[in-house]
Amino acid sequence: MGKYFYITTPIYYPSGKPHMGHAYSSIIADIFARFKRLEGFNVLFLTGTDEHGLKIQREAEKNKKKPKIFCDDLSKNFRDLTKILNLSNDDFIRTTESRHYKSVNEIWKRLIDSGDIYLDKYKGWYSVSDEAYYDEDEIESSNGKKYSKTSGSQVDWVEEESYFFKLSAWTKKLLKFYEENQDFILPKSRKNEVINFVKKGLTDLSVSRTSFTWGIPVPNNSKHVIYVWLDALTNYLSAINFPNTKDLKYKNFWPADVHIIGKDILRFHAIYWPAFLLAAKLPVPKRVFGHGWILSDDKKMSKSLGNILDPIEIIKSYGVDQLRYYLIKEVSLGNDGTISMENLKNCINNDLANNYGNLCQRVFSFIKKNCSNKIPKSTLMSDEDSELINKLKDNVPNLITLINNQNLNDFIKEIISYSFDANKYFNDSEPWSVKKKDPKRMENILFTVCEQIKNISILLHPIIPISTKKVLNSMNIKTEKISIEQINKLDCFDHDSELKNFEILFNKVENDN
Ligand code: ME8
Ligand code: MG
Repeated sequence: MGKYFYITTPIYYPSGKPHMGHAYSSIIADIFARFKRLEGFNVLFLTGTDEHGLKIQREAEKNKKKPKIFCDDLSKNFRDLTKILNLSNDDFIRTTESRHYKSVNEIWKRLIDSGDIYLDKYKGWYSVSDEAYYDEDEIESSNGKKYSKTSGSQVDWVEEESYFFKLSAWTKKLLKFYEENQDFILPKSRKNEVINFVKKGLTDLSVSRTSFTWGIPVPNNSKHVIYVWLDALTNYLSAINFPNTKDLKYKNFWPADVHIIGKDILRFHAIYWPAFLLAAKLPVPKRVFGHGWILSDDKKMSKSLGNILDPIEIIKSYGVDQLRYYLIKEVSLGNDGTISMENLKNCINNDLANNYGNLCQRVFSFIKKNCSNKIPKSTLMSDEDSELINKLKDNVPNLITLINNQNLNDFIKEIISYSFDANKYFNDSEPWSVKKKDPKRMENILFTVCEQIKNISILLHPIIPISTKKVLNSMNIKTEKISIEQINKLDCFDHDSELKNFEILFNKVENDN
């Protein structure tokens, strides 16, 4: 039986331009997807756009466009972003696709059949910007207007006929579910937030709207459209051909292994989604990982503050691997993190150009000059040689665990320390000084350091795929075939072929200070 791994990003509202926060979630998910492929898993990596609801309908009206046409244009920006970020997503879903309608209709039907949905009237606060209902104790007043305490977005009073989902009936069952599935919500701090919220007792959730039309009609009552979050969450099932539960995609990939999301949408994924699924008698995903906010100069990025760092602009100036590496290195995955142009430049110079880039460049140019541009064979490895290689090799199981716990920051720190060690090893063992008197020793040193470059490049590949591909290809290793196992295989080099040239890996950048 094969090993399967299903990972998703949020599906983004296409109404605005894609920004750094969207890029961040997508890059994180891409790194895990790529790593699991290296481990030999069959991976399904899904992203897409969330296109229904009042927020989108209003934006479309502002732009004097039909919502579907409006979404066709804007969803394209997010599809383009997957290319710009070099994502390895296997699918891109839009909630306006017919495969998704089928799946949402089936979920609705299951919730009706199980008796979890009833018709009543909704009275309460609603934020169009968050597409979320808020309780009285979750809002605050300022200048005569009402706002959500958590998101800060404005709320309006809504009164309309609505179908309700009996969320209240799921309070105890959810608490039991969290108890039995300790790692369902990560990081731990997020889990406690959710559990405390659920413990207060859940109220029934309005799951349809009648005051606008842009959505999936409620089966048998088309006066209503289905609440955009019940619609959106179901995308994770639509992409694996639900409702056809006999379909191989569904069988192999459901329940999903991890939903990568931002902490702003934790409630929907960690409370509503498992409740809907349990009510629909479907298995619940194994994990929801809620990452923190990307802040710019210590403030949440926002248009009005004018502190938005545009991922596309940054990639144009510095390169996509550079941005991917920086976001992962700099922001601790579960917490909020500040990013700035200055730190980005320092990170490119210190970690990428001076460390990994420098290692590859100087070793390859030494080989070019002194070994006919071919990686030498090893004849006798010294203790220092074995020590360098084994330190990394023996740590591979631990590195895999770090990834499986979504501990990307420690992972990257370890890898970059190997690169640092390899640079030091190259300096200390001075292949240039043994070249004449002990050429065999020189060859063993070069072999060892190449072995280490190969291993570091494999491990960095999920994070900086373009640069590591250059390095591995230069060593005549095809990236399509690389795997974690190759780290254990000493000497998979082609010693008869020359190293291939590549231009500079990482340009150093000028820093203003
Ligand atoms: O919420 N820092 O879509 P959305 C980090 N359609 N991540 C950020 C961020 C920031 N400053 N800003 C946004 C929706 N994000 C729904 C999702 S899923 C079934 C439906 C990321 O376009 C983060 O992942 O508002 C956040 O959860 C997501 O973008 C919200 O994107
Ligand atoms: Mg949002």
